[in-house]
Amino acid sequence: MKQSVVLITGASRGIGEALALTLLGRGDRVVGLSRGVSEQTIAHERFMAVNVDLSSLAEAEMAMHRLFETLTPDAIDDITLINNAAALAPVTPIEACASSDIASHLHVSTAAPALLTSLFLQKTAEWPVPRTVVMMTSGFAGIPAASMSLYCASKAFLNMFVRCVREEQRLSSRPARVIAIDPGMAETDMQAYARSREDESFPVGALLRQAHEAGQVLAPRDAAERIARLLDERGADEQAVLRV
Ligand SMILES: NC(=O)c1ccc[n+]([C@@H]2O[C@H](COP(=O)([O-])OP(=O)(O)OC[C@H]3O[C@@H](n4cnc5c(N)ncnc54)[C@H](OP(=O)(O)O)[C@@H]3O)[C@@H](O)[C@H]2O)c1
Repeated sequence: MKQSVVLITGASRGIGEALALTLLGRGDRVVGLSRGVSEQTIAHERFMAVNVDLSSLAEAEMAMHRLFETLTPDAIDDITLINNAAALAPVTPIEACASSDIASHLHVSTAAPALLTSLFLQKTAEWPVPRTVVMMTSGFAGIPAASMSLYCASKAFLNMFVRCVREEQRLSSRPARVIAIDPGMAETDMQAYARSREDESFPVGALLRQAHEAGQVLAPRDAAERIARLLDERGADEQAVLRV
């Protein structure tokens, strides 16, 4: 039986875990790429965990080579890569950031998604199935925020990266669908950590506390269901950046 195959980075918790469970629930095969693993997904027969630290590009590249040794297009209806993993830290003014923190953030949130996209498009280039690449972005791509320069700039990078790769795919005889999705605010470790920060150098913390009190933060499962619907929909003049 043929199946949709979805590779999700950061499927061990938060939005990525909820998305993996939603897609498994509708019959897809899911490969989760992260350092940890969710007990809920690992128990599923159609879930495969790939242990990888995306702050190491060498490790990320090796993981993709090994993974694609196990995948062939014969039993696949369509294949999707969702670059969901991201770092929030360091949440601090840039002059207080250590070089290792800057490097790690940029590797996980920009370089690894770019590398995985490159390898995914290379390895599936001859596959006669629809291919989709998704970047999980954020409204902060367009909102400058103190103590979040790396996070905001990384999301702006992803949005422009998507727009450029879409231009490349337009020139291809078998173009892949390439989009960014903004999941909105969802109740995850990342959201809870940002909300817990009360220091003056991070005014976004107060805004997130207000949003939480106003009930504007989605349960991860609700965000995941909205993302899954966006994956299924495809308008004729689809935008590069979609919001749930
Ligand atoms: N939550 C929100 O309100 C919100 C709003 C807008 C956009 N987003 C975006 O949505 C995505 C998911 O966010 P979330 O809130 O679910 O985040 P989260 O709860 O912090 O989860 C992050 C995921 O990324 C993985 N990850 C982090 N560093 C990694 C590394 N070095 N190597 C491999 N995997 C790594 C984690 O897995 P391991 O730790 O197991 O490796 C985890 O599964 C992110 O791109 C985020 O920017 C979230």
